[in-house]
Amino acid sequence: MIDRKRVAVIAGDGIGREVIPQALRALEASGAPLTLTDFDWGADRYLSDGTTVPRDGFEMLGRDFHAVLAGAFGDPRVPSNIHAKEILLGMRFRMDLYVNLRPVRLLDASLCPLKGIESRDVDFVVIRENTEGVYVDSGGVFKQGTPDEVAIQEDINTRKGVERIIRYSFEYCSNSRTADGRPRNRVLMCDKSNAMTYAGGLWQRVFKEVAAEYPAIKSEHMFVDALCMQMARDPRQFDVIVTNNLFGDIITDLAASLQGGLGMAASGNIHPGRTSMFEPVHGSAPLLAGKNKANPMGAILTSALMLAHLGFQQASARIEAAVREAVRQSKTTGDLGGNLSTNEVGDWIASRVASV
Ligand code: NAD
Ligand code: IPM
Ligand code: MN
Repeated sequence: MIDRKRVAVIAGDGIGREVIPQALRALEASGAPLTLTDFDWGADRYLSDGTTVPRDGFEMLGRDFHAVLAGAFGDPRVPSNIHAKEILLGMRFRMDLYVNLRPVRLLDASLCPLKGIESRDVDFVVIRENTEGVYVDSGGVFKQGTPDEVAIQEDINTRKGVERIIRYSFEYCSNSRTADGRPRNRVLMCDKSNAMTYAGGLWQRVFKEVAAEYPAIKSEHMFVDALCMQMARDPRQFDVIVTNNLFGDIITDLAASLQGGLGMAASGNIHPGRTSMFEPVHGSAPLLAGKNKANPMGAILTSALMLAHLGFQQASARIEAAVREAVRQSKTTGDLGGNLSTNEVGDWIASRVASV
C-alpha cells in the first residue's frame, strides 16, 4: 500500500491565496502520494468570526498531518497583525518548529543582481533559530502615551534553544551537499556579540563547544552588519549560516535578492521528527494581491522543499527542475522580467512537471 502523506494547506492572505494554488498544481503533477486538506485560517475568517486558530488547532495539525503548507499572513484590514501573529508565530512556537531552514539558491545566473555571478556561486543555507529571541513577546510598555513612555522588548536566548539550533546546523552541514554535489563543510555563526554581549556571549560559547565535536567542519563567525556587506559583495563564501530569529529574518530577505527576489525564496519551519510547516519567505504583498501578477515560484519551490522533507526526493527534484527550466525559458512573472500571469506560470510548471 502506498504511504500517503497528509498535508494541511493554509493559503492565508493576499498573494498567499494566489501562489499556493499554483504550488498545489505542481504537487499534483509530481504524482507524490499526498492527501491535501484546506484550512481557512487568515484575515477573512478573523474579520468574520473573530477566530484566528480554532481551539486545539495546533494539536490537531501535529496529530493529524505530516506537514503544513502555508502561504502568507498579513492584511491591511487587521492593522494589529494579531491573526498573523497567532497563526504563523503560533505554529512556529506552539509546534516548537525551532529550525527555520531557508535555502539560498540561484536557479539561473540571469536572476542575480550581482556582476559576474554564476548559478553555482549562490548555494548556501540560512538556519534561523525560530522559537526565541525578540519574537518571544516578552516585555511591555510603561507610561504609554506619555513623554516618559518606556517600551521593552526582551531578547530571550536559552542555553537549550541556542544549543539545539547550532547542533542542527552542524548536523545539517555534515549530511548535505550543494546542488553540484560538493559536500558542505563550513558553518558560519552570525551574531552581534560585540554590542549584545550577554546574548552574543552565550551564542559564542555554545558555538565553540558544539564546533569542537565536529572537527571535519570548519567553523566561522561574522558580525551581522559585516555579513550583510559580504553577502552583497561575494555570496560564494557562504555554505551554512546559523543565526538568531531576528537576524535570520533580515538576512534572508537580503539573500532572496541574490536569488531573483522575494518571489523566489522558499523556507521550512522544522522540528525533526515532528509535523513541520513550509512557507515561502515572502509576505502577503497586499498591493500586488488580486492582480494575478505575483510570482508563484517561491511557493512552488517551497512545495518541493516539503516533498524532500517528506521523503519524496524524486518528485521534489522534478518540480525544482521545472522551475529552473521556466526561468531559463522566461516563462516568468513581471518581477523576473517576464510577461506571464501567476496562473500561466503555474500552468507551465505543472505541465512541465507532468511531462518529465
Ligand atoms: P512582502 O514580502 O509581502 O512584500 C515585499 C515586496 O516584495 C513587495 O514589493 C512585494 O510586492 C514583493 N513581493 C513579495 N512576494 C512577491 C511575489 N511572490 N511576487 C512578486 N513580488 C513579490 O513584505 P511586506 O510588504 O513587508 O509585508 C506585507 C504583509 O505580509 C505584512 O502584513 C507582513 O507582516 C506580512 N508578511 C508575512 C509573512 C509570512 O506570512 N510568512 C512574511 C513577510 C511579511
Ligand atoms: C518571515 C516574516 C515573519 C517573521 C513576520 C510576518 C512575523 O517576515 O517569515 O520572514 O518575521 O518571521
Ligand atoms: Mn521575513
